[in-house]
Amino acid sequence: MSGSTITPWVVGNWKMNPMQANAQQLIQDLKQQLQQGDILEGQCRIGVAPPSIALSSVQAELANAAIDVITVAQDVSRIAGTGAYTGEVSADLLKDSQITYVLIGHSERREIFADTASVVAEKVKHALAAGLHIIYCVGESLVQREAGQAEQVVLQQICDISAVVEAEQWANITIAYEPIWAIGTGKTASPEDAQAMHAKIREGLTQITPQGPSIALLYGGSVKAENAVELAACPDINGALVGGASLNAESFYQIAHAFAQSK
Ligand code: 13P
Repeated sequence: MSGSTITPWVVGNWKMNPMQANAQQLIQDLKQQLQQGDILEGQCRIGVAPPSIALSSVQAELANAAIDVITVAQDVSRIAGTGAYTGEVSADLLKDSQITYVLIGHSERREIFADTASVVAEKVKHALAAGLHIIYCVGESLVQREAGQAEQVVLQQICDISAVVEAEQWANITIAYEPIWAIGTGKTASPEDAQAMHAKIREGLTQITPQGPSIALLYGGSVKAENAVELAACPDINGALVGGASLNAESFYQIAHAFAQSK
């Protein structure tokens, strides 16, 4: 089933970037793009995910942007509440700071910081319990794709969290399909391959929850202004999770514009 009634949703994942002075410039440039551009409120949801140290300041600075821009955390602790957990930021602390969206399960967390399937499931459980909206990232490696295991890996990653998601909580989940081999490499999945995987994800979600047809599915992995129009034309690609290109306000705006126009 096509997800074409879903409002497109484009999120810039700034990762461990940029330094403060550049962040200030990026925010000013983004506000200017939104002011001068023609994306209407409600036509495309826009989010940015800065490093945790900048969440509150970025949120405050974007509060008067021409259209709503959601500030998204890049990760959350697997521990809930408050307590003696040096270095951690819990879902409850995010919520307390009015940060209500969070990425969970990004491949960089899984690969570099050993976020196993069970750690990711704990994060999802606590984030949902705190009332956060989750952008849950899935994606296969090149080795897995070449071995013909891409679908199986991605559907398993969705099954990994299904046991901790209560029926009504699926309304608070967005899925981001990010093939690892396409992240930061300049190699985008072809629109056909991305659409095929998104259709499988939608089919899998629809078997798990009646809300499957209305869950937004974002594509991530070398999304740029140059390939956004083609990706946005795919019926089950409801938006993008953008890394490198989100550090340039004009590129990021153009990607959002492609999705706003396509649906
Ligand atoms: P790039 O757009 O830099 O490939 O990064 C994608 C990504 O990992 C977004 O979360």
